[in-house]
Amino acid sequence: MRVAISGSSGFIGTALVRSLTADGHNVLRLVRRPAVADAGEVPWDPAVGDIDPAPLEGLDAVVNLCGAHVGERRWTKRFKEELYRSRIRSTSILANALTHLDRPPRVFVSATGTSAYGRNRGADVLDEDSGPGAGFLADLCQAWEAAAEPAKSAGVAVCYPRFGLVADSSGGMLARMLPLFRSGLGGPLAGGGQYWSHVSLPDTVRALRFLIEQPGCVGAFNITAPEPATNAEFTRVLAHALNRPAIMPVPRFALRIALGESAEYLAGSLRVLPRRLVDSGFVFEHHTARDVVTAALHGRPSATR
Ligand SMILES: NC(=O)c1ccc[n+]([C@@H]2O[C@H](COP(=O)([O-])OP(=O)(O)OC[C@H]3O[C@@H](n4cnc5c(N)ncnc54)[C@H](OP(=O)(O)O)[C@@H]3O)[C@@H](O)[C@H]2O)c1
Repeated sequence: MRVAISGSSGFIGTALVRSLTADGHNVLRLVRRPAVADAGEVPWDPAVGDIDPAPLEGLDAVVNLCGAHVGERRWTKRFKEELYRSRIRSTSILANALTHLDRPPRVFVSATGTSAYGRNRGADVLDEDSGPGAGFLADLCQAWEAAAEPAKSAGVAVCYPRFGLVADSSGGMLARMLPLFRSGLGGPLAGGGQYWSHVSLPDTVRALRFLIEQPGCVGAFNITAPEPATNAEFTRVLAHALNRPAIMPVPRFALRIALGESAEYLAGSLRVLPRRLVDSGFVFEHHTARDVVTAALHGRPSATR
């Protein structure tokens, strides 16, 4: 297969590129800097709308994983605009570029998140048929998915992987939590009763490959493990795996002081199931918080890691 990937230098992108190249697939990386000749790189500048569609001719799939990191800094008005622009504008540029191709890809897999369901849905079980949520990230996710839609007019199958909390020691939320937990200073956040819809990085990569390789996958697919856990359970499992206590709870107000508005998403509850992936025949390797944490901390290095 020939697959182009935006955001390929990121946490998920790096693992996906490694998995595809290990299996002999040809990966083109869309890079926001001068491309290195003969390194499979294609330059683009999503900030100014600059992309030459020609290198995208005749691909099997385009995977869109770009966007400024939501946890990079406090959510000032300016940073929220950057979070929005770096996703919606770049997705729209890419989707529109696909409509100018003589030989468009079969599938456009364009990232979004479980925050599409909102910030706090309590213990409600959510799947792809659940209604959209409210709040900044929900609005962003819905606009992000809509921005990919123009590719449909070129006959491209458009898929939206709604990532949950992708957990691995190499990046994402878990990597940020690890130093505290390793020093024995970890603990549940904001009471710990809220559901976290985690997923292992190897299953995330396998699910993305499933969406790329399996004909007929269109629309939203939750990329979350089949058994979401509460934050307290996830914390307990992580501390146990590290052989450390988890006795330092972080109350909601402290989280809010430390992180500002984004704290509400760590304190909020989303109990999301990957119904469409499972119904389509995808088989998860890591189901529970224990499976996911074990894979994150001790998983064997392999093509999917
Ligand atoms: N990890 C999770 O748990 C999770 C959960 C829900 C949703 N998601 C979403 O899934 C996507 C991939 O996640 P990830 O964890 O791999 O993210 P990541 O590590 O932050 O990587 C995102 C990549 O996007 C590109 N990028 C950064 N700033 C950008 C900007 N201002 N404009 C355009 N591109 C920019 C960069 O790649 P280049 O430098 O190569 O362009 C970066 O490596 C992200 O959009 C993220 O929001 C992730």
